Amino acid sequence: MSVQVWTIFLAFLLFPVTVCGYECYVTPCTRDVIIVVDGSSSMQTSTYISQEINVITKLTYSWTIDDSKVRLALVGAYFGNEFNGLDYFTDSSLVEKRLQSFRLAAMQYGLFNGDFNTTVRFLDERYVGQRANFGPRTNVQKRIVIFTSHSGEKDIASTKNTLQKFGQLGYAVTLVGIGVSEDVYKNTYYHKFVTIQWFELGSVAQSIIDTITEEGICFLDQGWTTPKQEICKTTPTTTRAPTTTTKKSTGTVKPATTPKPVPPTHAPFPVGDYQDCSCTTQSLYIDIVFVVDVSEGMGLGGLMMVKAEINTLVGQMSLDPEIQKHVQVGLIKYSNESEIVFKPSDYTNEDEFTEDLWTDPRLEDVDEKTDEVNLHLALQQAAKMIGSMRKGVKKVVVIYAASYNDEGDDDARQIAANIRESGYEIITVAFVEPESSSLVMKIGELASPRMNFTSFRDELLVDELEDALCQVNCYCPNGWKQLVLEDRKYGECFFPTKIDASWTATKFECPILSKEHTGNGHLVYVNSALKNTFLNKFYMNHWDPENQEKPNYDIGLSYDKATQKYIWVNGVTNNPYSNWAEGHPNLSKGECVMSKQEAGTTTDFKWNSINCQTDSGRGLCQEAACDSDFYCPPN
Ligand SMILES: *[C@@H]1O[C@H](CO)[C@@H](O)[C@H](O)[C@H]1NC(C)=O
Ligand SMILES: *[C@@H]1O[C@H](CO)[C@@H](O)[C@H](O)[C@H]1NC(C)=O
Ligand SMILES: *[C@@H]1O[C@H](CO)[C@@H](O)[C@H](O)[C@H]1NC(C)=O
Ligand SMILES: *[C@@H]1O[C@H](CO)[C@@H](O)[C@H](O)[C@H]1NC(C)=O
Repeated sequence: MSVQVWTIFLAFLLFPVTVCGYECYVTPCTRDVIIVVDGSSSMQTSTYISQEINVITKLTYSWTIDDSKVRLALVGAYFGNEFNGLDYFTDSSLVEKRLQSFRLAAMQYGLFNGDFNTTVRFLDERYVGQRANFGPRTNVQKRIVIFTSHSGEKDIASTKNTLQKFGQLGYAVTLVGIGVSEDVYKNTYYHKFVTIQWFELGSVAQSIIDTITEEGICFLDQGWTTPKQEICKTTPTTTRAPTTTTKKSTGTVKPATTPKPVPPTHAPFPVGDYQDCSCTTQSLYIDIVFVVDVSEGMGLGGLMMVKAEINTLVGQMSLDPEIQKHVQVGLIKYSNESEIVFKPSDYTNEDEFTEDLWTDPRLEDVDEKTDEVNLHLALQQAAKMIGSMRKGVKKVVVIYAASYNDEGDDDARQIAANIRESGYEIITVAFVEPESSSLVMKIGELASPRMNFTSFRDELLVDELEDALCQVNCYCPNGWKQLVLEDRKYGECFFPTKIDASWTATKFECPILSKEHTGNGHLVYVNSALKNTFLNKFYMNHWDPENQEKPNYDIGLSYDKATQKYIWVNGVTNNPYSNWAEGHPNLSKGECVMSKQEAGTTTDFKWNSINCQTDSGRGLCQEAACDSDFYCPPN
């Protein structure tokens, strides 16, 4: 093993321990932490809120929440137009549940206007002030992290005295400004300000998370003298370390080749307020077969990188069958031959898996005797393995390849096509240096759409793979049609009602149709031309002319007399998209809205005002997808 490779290896393994200069990196040890989640309308859309919640999940998932360690209180600001703040949690499973309920509330009830100063007042009354319901532990450092998109300068300035008092009482307040700059907050008082731009929110850099952890939570207050031993008790394990561990280490030891800037692997996702599937790697519940090239072309360094990646990915997941959301994992290696290294039944514990990944002699070295590769053989074995795994569970084959041959018996295209046609996904990672963009890049032709990656984009590779695995775990309950735009799957599922009824009646049918899943079904929310086109096409495919004379469907839009505004079922009133037919809306025809096929067209539909009680038609229901948050049992 070369020196350089060992450095990577050791740095990777030891990183979480060596950073204890910051006290604890993986676990911010003994702290009382309050995190405020902004659910107000200044967050703009429920998608942004969902992304904000993903950031908080990423920030907190590795914490040891415990009576004697971190206690974490989650405050929901303006979800369902309320403040929501319970006592500090001492059990991490409750944290996930609470974040989930916030996410649901934003989707279900929409967003409500709010002030920053009310949020601060709530913190004071509930947690900080003298008459607070939930005070801190004595002799414990206290932290508040407020995610905020508020930008009213007067509103913010009015919090100065209260926030100053928080500081004096020992609460270090970190503000995470979403889409707002520090400037807007200059007239109030805080310990640390971190900015996240709107466009970053979907994939927040690990460095931002680290800054919040290290400078907002883990730092030691001046004069604080907690004995070191007590502070730094995290076990020296890599498996729960943040996913960037490898990047940090490789960054400093990276060899002679300076990577060229590499353009994004894929076209950007369609822009719009589409509900993304959640992506919490630790609660995925799919079956994965890793297929790893161990031919000479991979090289020992490459193999180490592959193992580090698999370690990072699987280490976050659960292999424990007692846990509802768990993955099953198998591993096959190949060069000119192919061999099963780990059968799916070998492990029920992710730590044992990741340990064996490093210690199993079969993965210790590449096969230097041959540079021939037979991926065909390996995929045959993978197909067999994946077919033997859990019924009704989504499945993916992840191929790491440093060489590729698409000729003769080694051609893997047919077997790959068979795997994809069976409903399984294939992810490919071409493991190459930027210079050698040769045949191995072609391996991408085996992958499912948007699932071909290269190791060039090292820094993003783990994130990209996590995202791809979450896409595998993003699907609709039986019978529901998924929103797919430009090969990207979204967390929105659709189902047409089957009998003619009034708008009011179909509105109530949607929650019933979704009863088996979330029960939160509602008439569709149409917020872009792209989605409108998708829905019309879908509806035409399901239109049943024998039972419905003309295609039309109720949408989730109606007029609200109280506010004199059109309002969507999810609470949105400022949807920039509309698609009214000529002469509509026309309140004298009614207060509800139906999308009707335009005469003389097949898939052009326009919105019409209809009477909510007397005009009848079908409804198009919308419901959340199965994803790492919403578990769907195998079927
Ligand atoms: C909170 O901010 C709003 C909006 O700027 C302001 O009208 C209100 O007076 C502020 N409340 C307090 C208690 O300062
Ligand atoms: C693979 O290559 C090795 C070394 O060249 C050779 O001994 C072995 O027979 C080959 N296996 C197959 C299936 O061709
Ligand atoms: C992935 O496939 C797409 C479509 O074939 C292609 O445009 C893109 O360059 C590929 N990316 C990589 C990294 O191979
Ligand atoms: C609205 O509808 C009513 C009843 O159908 C009709 O008399 C009226 O002309 C319509 N108004 C507009 C502006 O089209």
